This record gives sequence, structure tokens and C-alpha cells, in this order.
Amino acid sequence: MYTFYTNPSIFVFSKIKINMPNTISGFSKLTKSEKIEWLLNTYFTDKDNARTLVQRYWNTDHKLQKLHDEFIENTITNYYLPLGVAPNFLINETTYAIPMAIEESSVVAAASKAAKFWLDRGGFKAEVISTEKIGQVHFIYKGDFNNLEAFFNHIKPKLISDTASITKSMERRGGGILDIELRNKSEDLPHYYQLHATFETLDAMGANFINTCLEQFASTFKNEALQFAGFTNEEKDISIIMSILSNYVPQCLVRAEVSCAIEDLKSKDIPNPEDFAQKFKQAVNIAEIEPYRAVTHNKGIMNGIDAVVLATGNDFRAVEAGVHAYAAKDGSYSSLTHCSIANGIFKFWIEIPLALGTVGGLTNLHPLVKFSLEMLQKPNAKELMKIVAVAGLAQNFGALKSLTTTGIQEGHMKMHLMNILNQFAATDKEKLTLVEHFKTNVVTHNAVVEAIEEIRR
Ligand code: MEV
Repeated sequence: MYTFYTNPSIFVFSKIKINMPNTISGFSKLTKSEKIEWLLNTYFTDKDNARTLVQRYWNTDHKLQKLHDEFIENTITNYYLPLGVAPNFLINETTYAIPMAIEESSVVAAASKAAKFWLDRGGFKAEVISTEKIGQVHFIYKGDFNNLEAFFNHIKPKLISDTASITKSMERRGGGILDIELRNKSEDLPHYYQLHATFETLDAMGANFINTCLEQFASTFKNEALQFAGFTNEEKDISIIMSILSNYVPQCLVRAEVSCAIEDLKSKDIPNPEDFAQKFKQAVNIAEIEPYRAVTHNKGIMNGIDAVVLATGNDFRAVEAGVHAYAAKDGSYSSLTHCSIANGIFKFWIEIPLALGTVGGLTNLHPLVKFSLEMLQKPNAKELMKIVAVAGLAQNFGALKSLTTTGIQEGHMKMHLMNILNQFAATDKEKLTLVEHFKTNVVTHNAVVEAIEEIRR
């Protein structure tokens, strides 16, 4: 039994034709308005309201809107995130105002507070440890490994020379292919081997460059195998499964750190710096050994990292995947930050893999990405790695400082207050009154609702 809606399309399965409701073929070929109308007719009850909403988010500058429409397929409108700024970051003697694109109320406030705190205590130090990216050609080979190894050694120079036209301009700037290794994975998966290649992509994140090189390696590798005299006929038939960069970049590492004498931690929120330092370190140690805590601890770090990665037009999914793999590199998911207390000095640091770009991709296209990069004084990829790592460290410092002193809800709910007020359509005057009221009262959802009711009574 099937119910047919306005736009059934035909679905063929085991020679039985089934009309699937609410599906469409050729959607991408429709105009933007046709796409919206199809969606409204198919899924919405109040079509006029939904249409108005979608259109209200269109940019009035048609050229700008077209640019955004063309970033992806089937764009119907824009999805806003606030772009905030956390000023006062002192990193290696340079001050930055850091752009952050994020929806979570307390993140920018926490980053700004941490920046200010460390501004008075020498700021952040950051260094790039390494910048190597990785890509792999995954293939199946049924034969003697010694023959494969002989073939690889014979063909390696040609793998590199066949990519000459792809690598030319990268090499001119000092980057390119660093090495290609043959890796035998057949003990883990029968007949599975890899070309494991390393790259230096300078200021580009490098995904397109790496993938293009890998596809050329794969093509050369497969074709040359057919001619290789050292292979039997069966061995010549190498099956390429896929060629793709890895978002796990443990050799593209950055480290950021803050440190000061324990007594210098003293501040309005930290009346007893010795107690604070010990408790703070315990909190980090817990995240180092307890995965349930480590995930939330690292999530807080990613609040800062993703926000800057997004604002600067980088791929936050790639960064997330790589960072979490790194957090589990020793066999158990663990903290990305660490803390030490020695000789009266409190030290807190992060070490993370970050593959970022400041050229290519969205960086040359999205006007707000250009704006963000200019705000950061047009950093190169290494400088951006440092800034992003610092944003993560600052965020974690802010979270742990709150967690180990006042608790997280005080600051979080203060920032969330405006969201609750907006939910209740508070007027500007009501907002002013209630923000003032909650400066000295604990913010909870109920308390805000009651306070709104009270002033409206
Ligand atoms: C909330 O987005 C992030 C925190 O949970 C991080 C942490 O617990 O460390 C506050």
C-alpha cells in the first residue's frame, strides 16, 4: 500500500516499480524559485510564511547572494551564524582580535575573558612543530610482496615525475611532494597495500593539490604495473580502490602555551591562586585519564577552534576529525591540553594537529573570510595554526576556570539570558531592566520567566 503525493517519482527495485512519495528527480536542474515552491508544496502547511522566511534571509545585494548560491548545490537561502570578536589576544608579542563564527552564547565571552587574563600575564606563546600533510592511494594486489616492492622502487621516480605539471607552482614556492612510501597492510586486510605520500602545501590547506597528485600516482602506478617484467600476469592486475588525502595529520602540529608564577594567578575570581592551580591541574589530569570527561573537555577546546576555523573559511569537519583521532593516538581518548606545576610556575599547554589554509578555497571567495583574515593581519598558514591553537587553549582555560571555581552555569546562563529574553519577545526596555536585575541574581530559565511575568504584570 502506497500513498501518492503531488510529486511521486518512480523508484525501480528488483524490477518492481514503486512510487516513492515526496521524492523528485532532476531537483538540481530547477531554478531556485522552483526548488523553493516544490519544497513548500511538498512539506509545508503555511507556505506563505515559509516562503517569506526563506526570502528574508536572501542578501539584497544580488551579486553577493549569487556568490553564496554558487558555493553549494541546491542553495535556497542563507543560514546565519553570528560572527563575534575576541580582542586582546597577545600571541608571541603580537596582539590579535580573533574572529569567531559560533552560535553558542558563552564562547566568545569566555575567549575574551581568557585573552584579557593572560594579556596581563605575558600572553600566549605558540610554535609550529611540523607542517606535513598526508595522502594515500589504497590498492589491492594479489601476489608476492617482494615483486611489488621491486616494482615500487622501480616506478617511484616516475610517480613523482608524472606529477610535474601539478607540482610545478607549489615547488616554485618551496612545497610539493615530500616522499612516497609503499605500505604493506595485508596482515590487517588481505591483499591491501598503500602508497602513503607526504606533502608540504605551504599556505594552502592542500586538499585539491594532494588529491590531484594522488590520482596521478594511482594512474601511473596501475598503468606501469601492466608493463612491469617482474610481475606475473596476475600480479600486473593492481586494483586501485581509492586515492584520497588523510585528515589525520599528526605531523602537522602546533603547540600553544601560557605560564606564570602561581601567585600571579591571583585575581578577582581567584582569591587563592595555590588552591586554584592545584584544582585546575586536577581537572586537566582527570581529562587525561577519563574519556567521558576528556570528550567534554575537548569539546570545549573545539568551541574555540571551530569558531576561528569557520570564520577563516577553513574546513572544520576536517579539523575535528583529525584532532579527535590525535586525542586517541595513545590508545585511549584523552585530553588535548596538559598542565604542570613546578618550581612555583603554573604552565598550561595544548598540542594539536591543524591542517589550515590562508589561500585557496573559501579564503579568496567569501567576503567575510577575507575580512576575518585581514582582522588577523593576513596570517600565513603557520601563523593561523598558532592563532587557532591559542583560541582552543584560551577556551579550555576559561571553561576549567569556571568549572573549578564558580561552576559553569553562572557564566553560561548569564550569556544565555538574552536567548531566553528573545524567546519571550522581550522589548528593549524589558531587556535593559532584566539584564540589570540578573547582574545580582542567579539566572535560571524559571527565574527569567518569573521576572518577565513580574515586570509585565
Ligand atoms: C560547553 O560548550 C563546553 C564545556 O562543557 C567544556 C568543558 O566542560 O570543559 C563547558
